[in-house]
Amino acid sequence: MSEFDLIIRGGTVATASDVFRADIGITGGKIVQIGERLGGGAEVVAADGKFVLPGGIDSHVHFSQPSGPGIVMADDFESGTRSALFGGNTTVMPFCLQQKGVPLRESLNAYHALAEGNCYTDVSFHLILSDASESILGQDLPALVADGYSSLKVFMTYEGLRLSDGEIIRTLDVARSTGATVMVHCENEDAIRFLIARHEAAGDVAPRAHASTRPVAVEREATHRALTLAEIADVPVVIVHVSNGAAIEEIARARTRGVKVIGETCPQYLMLTADDLDGMNWEGAKFVCSPPPRDKNEQIACWRGIETGIFDLYSSDHCPFRYDDVHGKLNPRGRASFRHIPNGIPGVETRLPILFSEGVVKGRIDLPRFVALTSTNHAKTYGLYPQKGTITVGADADLAIWDPTVTRRIRHADLHDGADYTPYEGMDVTGWPTTVVLGGRVMIRDGELVGHKGDGAYRPASIRRSAASPASMEKQGQ
Ligand code: URP
Ligand code: ZN
Ligand code: ZN
Repeated sequence: MSEFDLIIRGGTVATASDVFRADIGITGGKIVQIGERLGGGAEVVAADGKFVLPGGIDSHVHFSQPSGPGIVMADDFESGTRSALFGGNTTVMPFCLQQKGVPLRESLNAYHALAEGNCYTDVSFHLILSDASESILGQDLPALVADGYSSLKVFMTYEGLRLSDGEIIRTLDVARSTGATVMVHCENEDAIRFLIARHEAAGDVAPRAHASTRPVAVEREATHRALTLAEIADVPVVIVHVSNGAAIEEIARARTRGVKVIGETCPQYLMLTADDLDGMNWEGAKFVCSPPPRDKNEQIACWRGIETGIFDLYSSDHCPFRYDDVHGKLNPRGRASFRHIPNGIPGVETRLPILFSEGVVKGRIDLPRFVALTSTNHAKTYGLYPQKGTITVGADADLAIWDPTVTRRIRHADLHDGADYTPYEGMDVTGWPTTVVLGGRVMIRDGELVGHKGDGAYRPASIRRSAASPASMEKQGQ
């Protein structure tokens, strides 16, 4: 009988702290040995000349999320996790939206039913809290946190979803007492509504107006407010999809005051600008997301945040809608005004190759920082570490084997999501994950899908272990 179920042989292994040559021995879905010249594997994957990294964890994706009358999200759990897997991810964290008037537990049960048996990666869920009533904050939420739903997102924008400052601070207070982690979408809804009315009155209704009605100031003010509420509640907070330098400054300033802030950015803020929303024939709709992409200077600021450690998390915010579809971007109302174009863009499959190519290959970041930003810090922030997010004995054998020499032109025709476009069409990248292992099972071998729908499973998350952000945890060697 073989000593190992699987050996990954001869690769260069990278974690958030080290890069070293080693073989990895895997048995029962776990990493059981890391060493040189391991023998006795029932199956061997040769990784000479390749990087062996922890599988990506994309902690910000949306699948099958109700998105308004007549609008249908382009990905369900099957297509979304398949696309994630091809992009080198082994765990994704979609959001379960609490429908108004529906108990959180019921929304979660429905979400589990959608995921069950349909996933190509492991999944763990965040909640979206749209009703912060006394009974939900006092009873439902603490019970769910204890059951493995330990992170939740609150919104400062969107009709029907936004919470008041009072509701947010009471939610943060529950997070403090339960160990839950709160993610905040920071945009000032009243200011946005004022700007939308002004643009519509002037007949300025094309997709570009989406960016003009959600300027940097709207995000900067809300970021400051969210951080102030977290400071008063005395609890760590995650500021998601940060798009610009002014919001980054708010995060840096809050940290000097002692606020524990985890900052997240996304590929769209590194690679796209508001000019992309100008496309002919309403094509700008393909780039409508919130916050919107900004300008070159804000891109530079976000790259600096990636390089310097301001950001702990780099996620896709994959929120896919088909473009040429009456249920997507070009729905009848969306053709009439930017206000009705569903917000969100696809990106779960291209997230990692874009950062690898633009970050690691271009020398902006090293391999350990890449691993931290794309996997380890997600696991630490959302209660999946050390089972996930690292390569160590005892961890889940979730691995992505990267060929750093492969060059590819991103084309939607080659991707695996349910949308009909990618915002990154035509972009050239160097490096791609060619083999992906989930729980010791080879799911993609040399670019070919060999795993099956249902091989991925739900993973409950534990509560926050520490008040520190992942970056400061690294400094403390945790
Ligand atoms: O436009 C976006 N980002 N849509 C997804 C929902 C969200 O706010 O993350
Ligand atoms: Zn958001
Ligand atoms: Zn999102």
